[in-house]
Amino acid sequence: MFITFEGIEGSGKTTQIQLLKEFFEKKSLNAVFTREPGSTEVGKEIRSILLNKENKILPQTEIFLIFADRLQHVHEFIKPKLTEGKIVISDRYYDSSIAYQGQREGINKTEINDLISKLDLPTPDITFLLDLPVELGLKRAKNRASLDRFESEEIAFHEGVRQNYLDLHKQNAKRIVKIDASQNSDDIFFNILEKLKIE
Ligand code: TYD
Repeated sequence: MFITFEGIEGSGKTTQIQLLKEFFEKKSLNAVFTREPGSTEVGKEIRSILLNKENKILPQTEIFLIFADRLQHVHEFIKPKLTEGKIVISDRYYDSSIAYQGQREGINKTEINDLISKLDLPTPDITFLLDLPVELGLKRAKNRASLDRFESEEIAFHEGVRQNYLDLHKQNAKRIVKIDASQNSDDIFFNILEKLKIE
């Protein structure tokens, strides 16, 4: 089973993934946790290029970097773990590319979808979209350490990312479960467990 978490900055993915990790450990379920970008050796280097605010990266270059990271991740980690029968939980996956890179100037979302199909990437069984107003998310994100290249984008960019996620949810209503992430974290986690149907 392949589970992914998606959302704008400050949507609380990390907290929910941590709660799920503790829950799976208690149940002795065979789960592995990972994230994008930056989960392989090559990916770590790509991540530092992507997040560095000093870098001026063309939208098309950004897409290639993200998909280079993803290809390594899928081949070195995701596919082998799924083949072993493990539950794989990823903090971000290809929906992030449609939501974020789809917001870059001159990029057509069809190009991104074409890449996803060409690279034969596994489709998640379920994706949790933690949705909340941009101002709330950014307020939370700003309480953390210094802002990275994505977090430093203006509000309009993040509004676009949120809208892209909501559109993705509409187009993939069976796979993508939208959760109100402005609730408190216990209620969010309750919603997640309810959807996973694990007792
Ligand atoms: P990270 O520090 O992991 O942030 P978060 O806690 O928000 O997940 O940074 C990852 C950043 O990379 C995040 O701002 C979104 C961006 N990103 C994309 O733009 N496209 C993608 O396909 C992925 C996986 C991430």
